[in-house]
Amino acid sequence: MPTTLTDVFRAHPIHLPRSPQPHDFTSLCELPDSFTWTHKDDLLFSAATPDYADSLPVVDLSDHDSAASAVGHACMTWGAFQVTNHGVPLPLLDDIEFLSRSLFQLPPHRKFKAARPENGISGYGVARIASFFHKQMWSEGFTLAGSPLDHFRKLWPRHHLRYCNIIKEYEEQMQKLARRLTWLVLGSLGVTEGDIKWAGPNSDFNGAQAAIQLNHYPVCPEPDRAMGLAAHTDSTLLTVLYQSNTAGLQVFKDGFGWLTVPPIPGSLVVNIGDLLHILSNGRLSSALHRVRVNQDRPRFSVAYLWGPQADVQISPLPKLVSPVKPPLYRPVTWKEYLGTKATHFNNALSAIRVDDNKNNVVGIFGS
Ligand code: OGA
Ligand code: NI
Repeated sequence: MPTTLTDVFRAHPIHLPRSPQPHDFTSLCELPDSFTWTHKDDLLFSAATPDYADSLPVVDLSDHDSAASAVGHACMTWGAFQVTNHGVPLPLLDDIEFLSRSLFQLPPHRKFKAARPENGISGYGVARIASFFHKQMWSEGFTLAGSPLDHFRKLWPRHHLRYCNIIKEYEEQMQKLARRLTWLVLGSLGVTEGDIKWAGPNSDFNGAQAAIQLNHYPVCPEPDRAMGLAAHTDSTLLTVLYQSNTAGLQVFKDGFGWLTVPPIPGSLVVNIGDLLHILSNGRLSSALHRVRVNQDRPRFSVAYLWGPQADVQISPLPKLVSPVKPPLYRPVTWKEYLGTKATHFNNALSAIRVDDNKNNVVGIFGS
């Protein structure tokens, strides 16, 4: 039996000094101290760079001639991009937003019925990264790995099948898109289907694991002092994000700081995760991103967190390694990496970095 994501999270419960509880945001008219962030709470708290003309590249996936090089360029410069004409039916994006709004609009006691269990992955709760911060984030989330049936039955006793069908269709479409994007990104590095055995005989990443993360950022009385979702990289190969038509997502660009990703109706945001960072031997960097909140509009987003089979060894691809570019990271399974991330958070990549000392490099090349 392949390990499921649920098993992985069960094996790596996050031990918190203080376990954050989901909040009833509607009852908060002022920003409580426990939600007020400063630089002391997050060194990356600085405001976004205003009026920066350059924004996240937009790639038209229907333009086969230019999509590959545009994706390659975007990954090298930003670690993220938006895609249009991606093949995911637009009514399905409306449906997933409808599902998300319906879910988060439920009264708190109904949402708590489907709360994420302490050592589980699926269910309602605060962001998993909440454990790394003393202050609380202005958001609530719902994670789904595997069938939504049990949780949705608790949320919508009479209408759950309708919502389950949306998730099923969304997962199918996202899986198809994520596979295609993964090959586009790898192709831009000169990696071909034969180079990745674990992608399977049909190169379709059969058995790959994924989770869906629904996020809600309620309107906030003092958005400048609040944090929707603190800066992080995703522990995925890549992530495909649908955002409602409200700004909030920001990507960190070296030398420029935080830049807002403007919502483009019908488009999807793609960001490189830590596992592609490792596979590419650091040629691609996982995108550091965060979410800020708004005073007048709530925001909804749906992240499709796409990774390999949990037990496959992920290591810098031989094609991208040479005596002058030795492997920067030791091999890790997704399962193991999630454990490292649960301990080291934003330093997880450094934690698996191979020492730069010569003996180590010689050892790896066996010479
Ligand atoms: C995430 C994430 C961004 C957003 O769920 O990992 O980064 O816009 N979400 O909600
Ligand atoms: Ni993320």
